[in-house]
Amino acid sequence: MKSPVAEPGTIVADAAEADGPLLSVRDLSVTFRAESLVRAVRTVSYDLAVGEQVGLVGESGSGKSAGALALARLLPEYADVSGTVTLDGTNLMRLTERELREVRGDQIGIVYQDPFSSLNPVLTIGKQLAEVLRKHKRLGARAARRQAAQLLGSVGVPNADDRLSDYPHQFSGGMRQRAVIAMAVAPRPALLIADEPTTALDVTVQAQILELLDELTSQHRTTMLLITHDLGVVAGVTQRVMVMYAGRIVESSTTADVFTRASHPYTVALHRSLPRIDLRQERLVTIEGQPPDPTRPAEGCPFAPRCPSRIDRCATEDPPLMTIPTARRATAGGWNMTSIQDADGVQVPGPASPHLTACWNPPAPVGGLSERGSTP
Ligand SMILES: Nc1ncnc2c1ncn2[C@@H]1O[C@H](COP(=O)(O)OP(=O)(O)O)[C@@H](O)[C@H]1O
Ligand code: SF4
Ligand SMILES: [Mg+2]
Repeated sequence: MKSPVAEPGTIVADAAEADGPLLSVRDLSVTFRAESLVRAVRTVSYDLAVGEQVGLVGESGSGKSAGALALARLLPEYADVSGTVTLDGTNLMRLTERELREVRGDQIGIVYQDPFSSLNPVLTIGKQLAEVLRKHKRLGARAARRQAAQLLGSVGVPNADDRLSDYPHQFSGGMRQRAVIAMAVAPRPALLIADEPTTALDVTVQAQILELLDELTSQHRTTMLLITHDLGVVAGVTQRVMVMYAGRIVESSTTADVFTRASHPYTVALHRSLPRIDLRQERLVTIEGQPPDPTRPAEGCPFAPRCPSRIDRCATEDPPLMTIPTARRATAGGWNMTSIQDADGVQVPGPASPHLTACWNPPAPVGGLSERGSTP
């Protein structure tokens, strides 16, 4: 008999296209063997379709970077990683270090928060860009330099020809991040992971960098995983959002749904902590309480100590990700948890993908439902 809900942490039929998803992550777990065991990522599963731009959002320490670095097997030796990561049909967990190096440059591009860490301070920007082009496109020295100038110009660096001979410290923070993005996209990777790419930049530059990422990934149908602690960042750029808390994905849906019908109390709290331009706020609202200690996983829902909607069972049972039937949700008089789809649910790409939430008592959407159905 089919189970009425998916296993904890399972994302059901997320973004598979007719010919399969580009990236398929199943039961990914990361544990750091530090002084104590740090359970950074706990049985996370999701799919990313070709050309999809997906946000991964959560507070600092929720496991976003550990989960992303695990995809490209970039974690230190003392990290235990389990699960499978399939990129374009290849299980990355089975590749040798040498094979992985090729995949990392060619198929997965990564942009980190601090552009300095991705650039060599003693080489000019032009040399570094040309090096990437020579390696991945097998260009000669002169052709690589010519393309480097084009590439730098295409990511919005003015006077690109002249600026090729600058060193990283001669670039502003925003320009450095543009150069790093140019290097990451030069080999035309199928997947771009941008881990807090705008966090170190000031607000106006942030918007420009997001626009650039949006433009580049849309142009080339690059799949993008945009990681941020700031829900506001994903609004204009992504089609889908996954919200992470304490090493698990707790809500996943279209970006529009996450903004208008957040279904997990943690996502609702993230909304409240967003600055509002329509209300003149004296100070930012923060989420009360602390995330759980990843070295001591407790029983029940990890958000329970901070959750205004908690009910009795939250203290003892960790909720699995469950599908909220969108049509019912919009029209019926309450949450009908008995009609939840199971893990064999219909596979629908991108914007029509199901809205999932890991919560026993989801809050009613703003301006929406007043009644709640019983839990299963
Ligand atoms: N290299 C590491 N060694 C030990 N613990 C780590 C390491 N990297 C991350 N962690 C721990 O793993 C958890 C998740 O971290 P991280 O993935 O960096 O969070 P996020 O990117 O969401 O801020 C945190 O508790 C963090 O302290
Ligand atoms: S399961 Fe319970 S404690 Fe956890 S988020 Fe939902 S209502 Fe809150
Ligand atoms: Mg991080």
